[in-house]
Amino acid sequence: MKTEIIRTNSIEKEQLERAKELWLGGGLIAFPTETVYGLGADARNSAACAAIFAVKGRPADNPLIVHLYDMEQLEELAYTTPLSRELFKRFVPGPLTLVLKKRGGIPDIVSAGLDTAAFRFPSHTIARELLKYSRLPIAAPSANLSGKPSPTEAAHVEQDMCGRIPLIIDGGSCLYGLESTVLDISASRPVLLRPGAVTKEQLEEVCGEVQTAGAADAVRPAAPGMKYRHYAPRAEVMIAQSENELSGLYAEHSAKGATVCCLCRAWSEALPAIPSCDKLILGEEGDYTAFSHNLFSFFRYADERGAYYIIVQAAEEKGIGIAYMNRLRKAAAK
Ligand code: TXA
Ligand code: MG
Repeated sequence: MKTEIIRTNSIEKEQLERAKELWLGGGLIAFPTETVYGLGADARNSAACAAIFAVKGRPADNPLIVHLYDMEQLEELAYTTPLSRELFKRFVPGPLTLVLKKRGGIPDIVSAGLDTAAFRFPSHTIARELLKYSRLPIAAPSANLSGKPSPTEAAHVEQDMCGRIPLIIDGGSCLYGLESTVLDISASRPVLLRPGAVTKEQLEEVCGEVQTAGAADAVRPAAPGMKYRHYAPRAEVMIAQSENELSGLYAEHSAKGATVCCLCRAWSEALPAIPSCDKLILGEEGDYTAFSHNLFSFFRYADERGAYYIIVQAAEEKGIGIAYMNRLRKAAAK
């Protein structure tokens, strides 16, 4: 299959029409969101959604998020509650996904047979234009091959999807670089299934206490996707607590002759020994936005360099630092 690539900052009417036609014909489109790139299909079309699973190599028991433009669409597809309306009012459009009891419109393949489905309203201008123009509910996982880091730039999508889908829309690099926060409010108590840019503290201001999906759920996880080893580059990932630990690990592993790539928090005297092609220094200490924005793209960079080891400096676990450490630990898990 030939993959067309549209590169744009402000998507035009003809391009919107082309996307809508493709979706209505059961086609798949990769498009930018403020979190990561999505691989979208018409959520009402089971065959189109089955193609998402096939193209990604995604296990059938891992449900998809449905992307919407407005609340009217949500009312048709899910049983909303005062809490869901309050949460969406406060945080969307933006990086929050809610799991709600679904109505009839969402086929089983999208929700992996569950009686709930996940919904989100992306804030990225291109995503919103596409959703507004087509008026379609779009089922979209991250646009990577299953097991690879989520794509935060169109070049990543091209690596994984060229020849497999008809259209990629390149809207530049994604603002957050980590997938949306997933909160399940389908049962009596809100459960945080995946941390993201909308933090637990922010959610608790609206819902009261939020539980975190615990390690005990690993056997039968509430977010089916959580049991899979996500976000993993080919190289082995190690976590360093400080610049000193990082440079020590670098010396130890590069001495074996292996390529080692390092993601460092801030400049320190320990770092010049590492050649610049093998390190990225993020700058301002404590700038977690830069951390999360760069993590997945750094993984892909290191893989391209043929790194055998990746050493990443830990962030403090507050704000988006929690989501960052969640993804980093998953990547480092063996
Ligand atoms: O930021 C994002 O959310 C991106 C962009 C493209 O919107 N999408 C994304 O999708 O990360 P994906 O498929 O990579 O992750 C969806 C997560 C999975 O962990 C899945 O298990 C969970 O949402 N999920 C979906 N439906 C669910 C449901 N009914 N109950 C529990 N978890 C659900
Ligand atoms: Mg994903």
